[in-house]
Order: sequence, then structure tokens, then C-alpha cells
Amino acid sequence: MRGRLDRVIAACCLLSRSEAQTALKAGRVTVDGVLLRDGSVKTDTEAQTVLLDGRRVEGDGFVYLMLYKPAGVLSATEDKKGETTALDLLPDCYRRIGPGVVGRLDKDAEGLLLLTDNGDLNHRLTSPRHHADKTYLATLDRPADASDEAAFAAPMDLGDFVTQPGELRRLEGGLQCLVTVHEGKFHQIKRMFAARGKTVIALKRLSIGPLRLDEGLAPGEWRPLTESERTEILKK
Ligand code: URA
Repeated sequence: MRGRLDRVIAACCLLSRSEAQTALKAGRVTVDGVLLRDGSVKTDTEAQTVLLDGRRVEGDGFVYLMLYKPAGVLSATEDKKGETTALDLLPDCYRRIGPGVVGRLDKDAEGLLLLTDNGDLNHRLTSPRHHADKTYLATLDRPADASDEAAFAAPMDLGDFVTQPGELRRLEGGLQCLVTVHEGKFHQIKRMFAARGKTVIALKRLSIGPLRLDEGLAPGEWRPLTESERTEILKK
């Protein structure tokens, strides 16, 4: 991120501007090894090494978080009926910023949820023109077979829309399947299986475009995207 040092520190470190200024005055910030107390100095975190308390200040000023949404939590940022939302699982410093949820995931589904306040990226990843591929692990009431694989690989008419050709890979004798789709229509995976006479009894999102659910996260846990994950997803 480029700009005034106090603004960059505030945005990248989730501080208020006055907290950033206090950190500067206290001598906790260096730029390329030089201690700076003047927040008005222009900086660029990509071209320079900016450290706060010895830790690198980096990012583009937006928040990018990966959350392992558990089943039972809404993929929303607020709910009028008081149900638990994805945002409720984040600490206050992020809740204050209020990142939006990228793409929906049903309440009874679990897995990868991306949260960001970068509205352009959110739009790109969810707009019908740019939809990113999404991969799910679906558990079924009865095994999928080769004819389901063929059906998923062709456009599927779901009544109100026709899917783009997707992919279905059978696991566990067909009771579990890896499914990749290119859109994100409401209940899409459940409806595609329903059209094949099968019921999805559990659904887990594993990836959105290049972003994969971190296997080290337990349901309900989250972490910021790494620099390389952020770079990759921003290319979408
Ligand atoms: N497809 C579904 O049926 N549900 C989801 O939450 C996501 C994709």
C-alpha cells in the first residue's frame, strides 16, 4: 500500500489513525531500518520495508480473511433474527471494519468463506460474467454413478437457469463427490443433484478460484490470507 505512513499503518495493522500516530510517536515504526516518528511521510510497503514493533507492515489496506464456516452459521454479516453469522466468528478489530462475505454458502453447508472489504474483488468473484470456479465435497444419500458424471459435464437445465458444464468426480464409491461449478446460483449443487434424483446430505466448499480451504483450520476458525493467496485471488 502507498500513502502517508500513519494512514498506511492504520489500514494495514487495523489501527485507528490516532493509534497509528501514537505508535509512531513512541518510536515503534521503522522504514528501511530508519526510525520514523512523522506520520506525514509518504511510504510504499512494497518498495520499502516498513516495520511496526519489528513486524512487517504489508497489504493493500483491505482485509482478506479465510473462514472455515461451520454448518449452522449464516454466510452473512448480520441477521435480524439474531442468528449467528460469519462476522460473529471474527474478533472485534475485523467486525468493526465489516468485511463482506464473497458468495453465499447455505446455512447447513460448511467450508471456505472469503470475507473482504475490497468491494471490487467481491464483485469480480461473484458477478455472473467473472464467476470463479468453486469446488465442493458433497455427501449424498445414494451413490452417484457414471451417468451423473456425464450429466454434470454437460449444461444442466434447472428450470430457471441452465448451468455451464461442470465436473463431478466420484469418491467413496460415489457416496461422496468432488464437484466443480463455474457459477454460484442459489442451492446450485443441491439442485443439480436433486435433478439427478439424489439428495445432498452434507456439503463442504473446498475452494474458490485459486483459494483453497486451509486444512489446518477447524470449523469456526479463520486466518488472514497469506501474501501469495492475496496476490493470486486479486488476479481473478
Ligand atoms: N450449492 C448449494 O447447494 N449450496 C451452497 O451453499 C453452495 C452451492
